[in-house]
Amino acid sequence: MSIVEKAVEKLKNLPTELAVPPPVETAPLHMASTVERFQERTRVVDQPVESAPLWHVEPAVLKRTGILPADDAAGARLADELRLIKRTLLDNAIGKGAETPARGRRIMVASAEAGEGKSFVAMNLALSLARETDFEVLLVDGDIPKSDITRILGLGEQPGLMDVLADEQRAPAEVIVRTDVPNLLVVPAGKRHPLAAELFRSRRMEYVLDEFGGRDRRRLMVFDSSPLLATSESQVLASHMGQVVMVVAAGRTHRQAVNSALQSLDDFQYVGLVLNMSSLPARANYYSRPHGHYLRVLNGEA
Ligand SMILES: Nc1ncnc2c1ncn2[C@@H]1O[C@H](COP(=O)(O)OP(=O)(O)O)[C@@H](O)[C@H]1O
Ligand SMILES: [Mg+2]
Repeated sequence: MSIVEKAVEKLKNLPTELAVPPPVETAPLHMASTVERFQERTRVVDQPVESAPLWHVEPAVLKRTGILPADDAAGARLADELRLIKRTLLDNAIGKGAETPARGRRIMVASAEAGEGKSFVAMNLALSLARETDFEVLLVDGDIPKSDITRILGLGEQPGLMDVLADEQRAPAEVIVRTDVPNLLVVPAGKRHPLAAELFRSRRMEYVLDEFGGRDRRRLMVFDSSPLLATSESQVLASHMGQVVMVVAAGRTHRQAVNSALQSLDDFQYVGLVLNMSSLPARANYYSRPHGHYLRVLNGEA
């Protein structure tokens, strides 16, 4: 059975998967929220300053825009769900069972349609991976039209992915922004370009991605992207990736759309499904925020 077929099989089980959310009471009370942990890390700047000063990432701003979860039990649970997702991604990235470990370090966060939580998952996954002391994470804003991550991090004026693709004289390392979050590097989207899909398909792109990967196998790349069904450039971007995290907005995206998006991916990629933004019925021992969101890994194989 191909990966796509397996993923589609998993999708068929959505209602059953939904029926068993872990009760919120299981979260240890002492657990620091994602935001608290993030704030702890931003106080310490332990990376060598190369040519430019470290870019300050302000947790309060990220929280205000909604790209970091609320500072509550739901946020703590999200951090736990992300740990499960990242464990599988890391296993695939470092070659445990992965056929193409070099590409396995390229992880794209995708979805069929807009507003399913790609940028949210990409940002939170990158922060979660950056806490792994053995790795550093390069978060690349591959959603050129919307570039939410670039905007939220205040990197709108900085050169980025499109600039380095369009200008062969520019070294890929020039557009990598070191942040004051330990182990987190960012590549902004850069200036829009009318030939984005062609540039994504070019040999220059493969070279740029290789350079972004660095010489050291400890660097992981997380790509935000535009909806797979809205632009051809996202499908092209996916073709450069070893792993795809497919975000599905629960109860909103039609199964047909998810199937089409999955079919646009290559069979050799590791594809993991994340059911996002699932509001559960307000039952006593269930998750109690009426419009809360949670993440769930549907495909244990990543
Ligand atoms: N799991 C989640 N918990 C809380 N808010 C979320 C979650 N997923 C997405 N959101 C919010 O939903 C909105 C759409 O998500 P976004 O990541 O921008 O979608 P996309 O990048 O797919 O267009 C944003 O306001 C985001 O903060
Ligand atoms: Mg987005």
